[in-house]
Amino acid sequence: MRMRKKKNLDARLQNVQAILTVYQSENKNFSCTQPEQLLDLDGLFAKPQPVFIEIGCGKGGFARKFAALHPEINFLAIEKSANVLVEACEKALPLQLPNLRFLNAQAEYLSRIIPPHSVERIFLNFSCPFPKKSYASHRLTSARFLSVYQTILKPDGEIHQKTDNAMLFAFSLEQLSQNGFMLQNISLDLHHSAIDDNIPTEYEEKFAAMGLPIYYLEAKRAKT
Ligand SMILES: C[S@@+](CC[C@H](N)C(=O)[O-])C[C@H]1O[C@@H](n2cnc3c(N)ncnc32)[C@H](O)[C@@H]1O
Repeated sequence: MRMRKKKNLDARLQNVQAILTVYQSENKNFSCTQPEQLLDLDGLFAKPQPVFIEIGCGKGGFARKFAALHPEINFLAIEKSANVLVEACEKALPLQLPNLRFLNAQAEYLSRIIPPHSVERIFLNFSCPFPKKSYASHRLTSARFLSVYQTILKPDGEIHQKTDNAMLFAFSLEQLSQNGFMLQNISLDLHHSAIDDNIPTEYEEKFAAMGLPIYYLEAKRAKT
């Protein structure tokens, strides 16, 4: 179901334009991956530093906490829904974090927007599971997305994924290992694991409060 456009959305997006880039293209062909509107990542942030991105940042809780804890990282939080992203930007703007910026774009188009091999880490936090088999290609760890990530990740770049969904997690393990990534640091219950630097997201807090286990993986680009 498509969410109704928020009242005053355009004006609210205008108010946060200091930290927000909007990607708009007439070309809706997902298979077209030619660079089109490449971001100047060094110019976007206050200073050149390693770049981490989060795809599907929702209301941006993880992005705000991560950027505040890690001033040595430039963090680009990406979300396809302007309705949702506007709230993330409104919460981030008063914090004046020089290493946090937002991009309104679909993951499908990232190789058109993000310079090749410029990203050190991709976070996929509680991505939509798309449970129907016929929608498997919409999952953010399906082969078509992994090939986009291969073009923007540095040679030793990583993907870190968290989810409450066992089906999506199993799918991700399979897709990543079949598409040029090496798996490491896997947990079937992140909150009761030895991994102690976890930053919870909005969805994660809800699922954890319901007693659900959080699945976690890290995947590194395999050397070719
Ligand atoms: C379930 S929410 C999780 C939000 C947040 N990461 C969290 O953990 O609280 C998934 C988000 O991913 C976004 N999303 C889904 N598919 C996307 C895509 N292809 N490109 C960019 N964002 C996407 C959705 O709009 C939604 O806001």
